[in-house]
Amino acid sequence: MAGQDDVPAILRYYLENREHLAPYEPAHPDFFYTEGFWRDRAERDLEDFKNDQSLRLLVFARDSPGEVVATIGFTGFVRGAGHLCNLGYSVARTHEGKGYMSEGVRAAVEHVFAELNMHRVIAGYMPHNRRSGNLLRRLGFTVEGYSRDFLLIQGRWEDHIQTALLNPRWIPA
Ligand SMILES: CC(C)(COP(=O)(O)OP(=O)(O)OC[C@H]1O[C@@H](n2cnc3c(N)ncnc32)[C@H](O)[C@@H]1OP(=O)(O)O)[C@@H](O)C(=O)NCCC(=O)NCCS
Repeated sequence: MAGQDDVPAILRYYLENREHLAPYEPAHPDFFYTEGFWRDRAERDLEDFKNDQSLRLLVFARDSPGEVVATIGFTGFVRGAGHLCNLGYSVARTHEGKGYMSEGVRAAVEHVFAELNMHRVIAGYMPHNRRSGNLLRRLGFTVEGYSRDFLLIQGRWEDHIQTALLNPRWIPA
């Protein structure tokens, strides 16, 4: 998880990848691209994790440990009869196609299954996002459905293909 020391590297990641990520994310206000936003956000993420609501992770470069190259987030934790959460991710434009996401998401999902005892991880992607679909297939996610006008991306409602991965080792409380 991000600490205050990571804030400059996170901000650099989002500034450098602003155009690369824009087609896949909701429009961000200018405040999103400031150190103040990320200082608050690091605190909130820690609180949310302690309250069993989300887990947001950073991936650092293999050969440059201070450089953030990708983000992985598990959000919207549902416990009770669900034990499920949503997965989101992104990798820097300069580090696409190197296997960072496959390695990172595989390890992160394993952690969420083994340590947080989630039963289902859900991930959706836009039909034209070939890289995202390939990644999820590679990790064993299977298609569960198709949601029309699912997310508002850059001011347009976008359809999403819904996928999920189940935890074969889920333990009843
Ligand atoms: C979707 C996204 C995360 C996929 O990233 P990625 O780098 O393609 O994913 P991976 O880390 O699995 O890398 C796979 C590629 O690396 C290659 N690779 C190299 N070494 C590898 C390794 N050790 N393990 C796996 N793949 C490796 C694979 O052959 C594959 O290449 P290909 O794209 O030519 O087929 C990325 O495109 C992205 O951030 N897009 C913008 C944001 C976005 O779409 N977010 C998700 C919204 S649903």
